[in-house]
Amino acid sequence: MSETPPIPLCEPYLRGNAGAYLGECLATNYVSSIGPFVERFEREFAAHVGARFAVACASGTAALHTAFRLLGIEKGDEVFVSTLTFIASANPVLYEGATPVLVDSEMSSWNMDAGRVIEEIEARIRSRRKLPKAIEPVHVLGHPAALDRLVELCDRHGIVLIEDAAEALGARYREGPFRGRHVGTVGRLGCFSFNGNKIITTGGGGMIATDDESLARRARHLTTQAKLPGVEYDHDEVGYNYRLSNLAAAVGVAQLEILPECLARKREIAARYQKAFSGVEGLSLPPACSWADPTFWLYSVLIDPDTFGLDRTALFERLRAQRIQSRPLWKPLHTMAVYRDSPRLGGAVAEGLFARGLSLPCSVGLTDLDQDRVIDAVLSHRQRGR
Ligand SMILES: Cc1ncc(COP(=O)(O)O)c(C=O)c1O
Repeated sequence: MSETPPIPLCEPYLRGNAGAYLGECLATNYVSSIGPFVERFEREFAAHVGARFAVACASGTAALHTAFRLLGIEKGDEVFVSTLTFIASANPVLYEGATPVLVDSEMSSWNMDAGRVIEEIEARIRSRRKLPKAIEPVHVLGHPAALDRLVELCDRHGIVLIEDAAEALGARYREGPFRGRHVGTVGRLGCFSFNGNKIITTGGGGMIATDDESLARRARHLTTQAKLPGVEYDHDEVGYNYRLSNLAAAVGVAQLEILPECLARKREIAARYQKAFSGVEGLSLPPACSWADPTFWLYSVLIDPDTFGLDRTALFERLRAQRIQSRPLWKPLHTMAVYRDSPRLGGAVAEGLFARGLSLPCSVGLTDLDQDRVIDAVLSHRQRGR
């Protein structure tokens, strides 16, 4: 008897010209970070998101770290960052010796609670305390963070807004002051990831998007070891080997060509889950605010154990037994040993989301048949109980 095939959570979708473009790199010997695909990927990415400049980096983490260096974040500075996120949002703050202040989520989008941030800034102004140097909202799981009030706050008080858009390529604003704009292009700098699980991948890679030419120029300099032009190995500051390779960029160009297809499929998968799960007691659907155009990069539901009849760990195990991969949401940073002593803002919304949230399979290549298998597995204990 053949074994039931596994259903992965979110695997790469490497169709189109990736192989052909990689072949070009091999045939021409342009494999390292010097090569035509790097610039082409930057140009086409910038055009896609609507930024003036894009700088390709070795990873999303490298992009964020470079961004903090560009902004001069250093010891003694604070950066407000979402607590419900992958650890790489905050680690680069620590790389620079600065202090991350971990902000709770709001329930409506699962993103940084802007109201809580505003309250804190106003309280600090009243008591003449130091303001954070930067605010770093994360567009978590592909849902845009509400930025209108944060942009206004940052502009008013000289705070820099830097967007962690690692998970949100393709997400835009539908309404409001940023209507039509792509996430990652509202703040001074926006950072993206092309890690293997992201909506498009380069194996590993990242991008900084900005409208500021001098920041883009300096980002290119810092990510290439801060080497000065010329044949001598002369460097004017401490830089990094953070540039994306031509090989990875070749895959990136091919992936960008099929991004519309990937986004359409993600949204179709979300719509099918929504249809199957709407009205199921104890199962809440992921956020989809009316002003936002989310990508549903990782399709995630919230489970209320009392009414659903299983908690998220039991559902995880039940799916695993059927060879279906699922994952809890991000563990809030403030609950981890590394960040336990970091200052915090807000209550326990992120902890509640973590306790109840589960991401379900949503690879671009997921078939309807496999998705039906997931849906049946999620609902099976209820059908049996009827
Ligand atoms: C929110 C967030 N920030 C940063 C990163 C870091 O990106 P990378 O893995 O490309 O370094 C990731 C994902 O990997 C992420 O999900």
